[in-house]
Amino acid sequence: MDYLELVKKAYEGMENAYVPYSKFKVGAAVLTKSGKVYTGCNIENASYGATNCAERTAIFKAVSEGEKEIEAIAIVSATEDYTFPCGICRQVIREFGKGCKVIIAKGLEYRVFDLNEILPYDFGPEDLLEDK
Ligand code: THU
Repeated sequence: MDYLELVKKAYEGMENAYVPYSKFKVGAAVLTKSGKVYTGCNIENASYGATNCAERTAIFKAVSEGEKEIEAIAIVSATEDYTFPCGICRQVIREFGKGCKVIIAKGLEYRVFDLNEILPYDFGPEDLLEDK
């Protein structure tokens, strides 16, 4: 699966965005190391803090199916600009995707980042191990 296809999957995921409050639709698609793709959308809540971002929806779908290694994640929104993942999502991507690629698209134009570029000096599972 190439990055453009992954971007298209993210737009498919965005179709189910539940955004009655912000009206800001986001879609994501996770490519796992085993080659599977999981899509996600943002899902808002009347209690705003209970909202789940598109990236986390896609990642949690993957992880709940036993896919814990992310190769790449594509993120899109319905705006005409690039939408970067929020801080919480960067951290969740980090948990399952150390060294993965983050693809940000506007239309079918996309930019590819290493997770490290958008989340430098990171903290992850390895940091909790006693002998590193
Ligand atoms: N949102 C995402 O889905 N992903 C992000 O990385 C940024 C924010 C959603 C959450 C909320 O539904 C809406 O965008 C406005 O914050």
